[in-house]
Amino acid sequence: MDKFLLRGIEEEGSAAIASYREKGGYAALEKALSMKPEEIIEEVKRSGLRGRGGAGFPTGMKWDFASRDPKFPKYLICNADEGEPGTFKDRPILEKNPHLLIEGMIISGHALKAEYGYIYLRGEYPGAKVVLEQAIEEAYKEGLLGDDILGKGIKFHLSVHQGAGAYICGEETALIDSIEGRRGQPRIKPPFPVNVGAWGMPTIVNNVETLSNLPLIVSIGGEKYAGIGNPECPGPKIYSVSCCVKKPGVYELPMGTTLREIIYTHAGGIRDDRPLKAVIPGGISTPVLTPDQIDCKMDFVNLPKVGSMLGSGAVMVFDDTVCLVRVCWRALRFFEHESCGKCVPCREGTGWLRNILERIENGFGRKGDIELLQDVAHSMAGKTFCPLGDGAANVVLSFIRQFHDEFEHHIEKKECMA
Ligand SMILES: Cc1cc2nc3c(=O)[nH]c(=O)nc-3n(C[C@H](O)[C@H](O)[C@H](O)COP(=O)(O)O)c2cc1C
Repeated sequence: MDKFLLRGIEEEGSAAIASYREKGGYAALEKALSMKPEEIIEEVKRSGLRGRGGAGFPTGMKWDFASRDPKFPKYLICNADEGEPGTFKDRPILEKNPHLLIEGMIISGHALKAEYGYIYLRGEYPGAKVVLEQAIEEAYKEGLLGDDILGKGIKFHLSVHQGAGAYICGEETALIDSIEGRRGQPRIKPPFPVNVGAWGMPTIVNNVETLSNLPLIVSIGGEKYAGIGNPECPGPKIYSVSCCVKKPGVYELPMGTTLREIIYTHAGGIRDDRPLKAVIPGGISTPVLTPDQIDCKMDFVNLPKVGSMLGSGAVMVFDDTVCLVRVCWRALRFFEHESCGKCVPCREGTGWLRNILERIENGFGRKGDIELLQDVAHSMAGKTFCPLGDGAANVVLSFIRQFHDEFEHHIEKKECMA
């Protein structure tokens, strides 16, 4: 498959508008501006595009809800928070191909009749802020943003809002609170942001990669796009691969490529050719898999069949030298630190889980600790405003389910199997 999202990013100056135009950039926008908003939404529905931010919600359906709401103004927010450990798939678009995202956002703004857009950028991406602001300025200069885009009477303004480094602000309602100038904490849903979002108005929050697919959908049409990758959730997908592989990096492949192909063909296999021990397929909050499960297709439909999730498509690979109790403890340190504290089960539970894992890891595990971990995790899952607590609970439950012996060994022998 030819690259689309990451096309030309290795070239010097790829972020400049001239370089983007050389690759045919902004031709899809011209086509989209001659289409009615409803026609674009229809193409998105036909394309089968599902949100790349983690949940895989059908984009066309979300847009339909928002466009049916009669309230104005509507806001379009690009979620560029990218705070999930292991995830760095949006970063190359933000830093090396920003006009693809900008074009996608202008098309989306037109489709949704949203006249204002924001890119909510991860606090730890200062370089991306410079690149994005420069690209936005270029787009304004060429009449691609503003009150009368390319003389077609369509208005769309865009700016960057940088976060302050909180993972929770990637959750869409916490993100909206943060944009409004408040401490970012998730809101109860319903109402959903598509009806009651930023400043109480209909707001569409989509991931960087989701919005960057719009130029492709408009240029080749929804039907043709639906033929890329798995027909049940089609399109190109960026997988970020890290940890014990020979070639960690970002790989744009058809959605539904197997985990085996990603690890062994694209990422070059396991470093030092060691045996594979475990894989987290979609970022730290997705359940861990064992080596016998890597023939699974990496998409929103097939990963749930083996008890995991695609999440952000961030593949974390562990070889036999890695202690999985330690990985689990390290993950819980992250969740405890990043829990916003609004919901008691998450605020207290993440700390409890981290505490128990820490004593197991340090050789002070007690008989009954595994059951205690499971008990605490079960009393968190599904009981919070947002899925951060579910993610933390799922990590612990899946590590225990898949690597029970390793936890037992740590507790009984006070040492690590790895
Ligand atoms: C704790 C937490 C962090 C999240 N972080 C991100 C993020 O960094 N980027 C993102 O696009 N979605 C993130 N999400 C998912 C968003 O809430 C939302 O579902 C997504 O932005 C919708 O975009 P999509 O439909 O294009 O996937 C996060 C969710 C949670 C619960």
